Amino acid sequence: MKPGNKPDPFTAKAHKEGYLARSVYKLEEIDRRIRLTRPGLRVLDLGAAPGSWTQYLANKVGARGHVVALDLNPLRFAAPKHVHAQEIDILACPVSDIARLGPFDAVVSDMAPHTSGVRDSDVFRSVELVERAIVIADASLKKGGTFVAKIFQGEGFDATRAMLRTRYETVRVLKPEASRKESIEIYLVGLSRREDPPPLDPAAAPPAPAGAPG
Ligand SMILES: C[S@@+](CC[C@H](N)C(=O)[O-])C[C@H]1O[C@@H](n2cnc3c(N)ncnc32)[C@H](O)[C@@H]1O
Repeated sequence: MKPGNKPDPFTAKAHKEGYLARSVYKLEEIDRRIRLTRPGLRVLDLGAAPGSWTQYLANKVGARGHVVALDLNPLRFAAPKHVHAQEIDILACPVSDIARLGPFDAVVSDMAPHTSGVRDSDVFRSVELVERAIVIADASLKKGGTFVAKIFQGEGFDATRAMLRTRYETVRVLKPEASRKESIEIYLVGLSRREDPPPLDPAAAPPAPAGAPG
């Protein structure tokens, strides 16, 4: 912490309550607002490491439920038996391999790219991750299920929200209190998945900014 900076209350709370990251309070607020979790649910947690969302979800769904936690990196806690954790690149792994681990009642994604500081490029990579999460949810989420994904605001946000509107009865945009005001992140929520999602339209995706990987 820089001298003069106030300690972040969410970081202090996470430390006190045994959570691995302050991000858990974003999920907690989303859960409070949309009633995402309950005992017995099966949840897919994309971009799960170090693991605060997984800790929270595992506790909320309980031993009768199941959490599949996927990330490039390992979880940093000893997960209980009803958590299946796997290290994978979600952009590279075939969607069918992930769908095989379902079906799920909820798909949540806190995935974020390594930020480069070049806003257009960071936004492009974030949108790419959300689109992948949407396709994974198309293949693995039960009808009536819930989708939550972090996205960086910018080019592609409106098109991504429009994609969700074709797939979910209700789409909401939430900025939890624990999300820093200066951060461009926001959460897209799809409530009640419709029966047959239309195929993802590649033409709807924004063009890659100069310098972004192809
Ligand atoms: C903000 S962190 C998630 C924090 C987590 N929700 C928690 O509460 O501990 C974003 C995560 O997205 C993951 N991620 C980014 N791109 C990914 C990819 N292509 N495949 C899998 N995970 C990815 C990163 O490895 C990182 O752990």
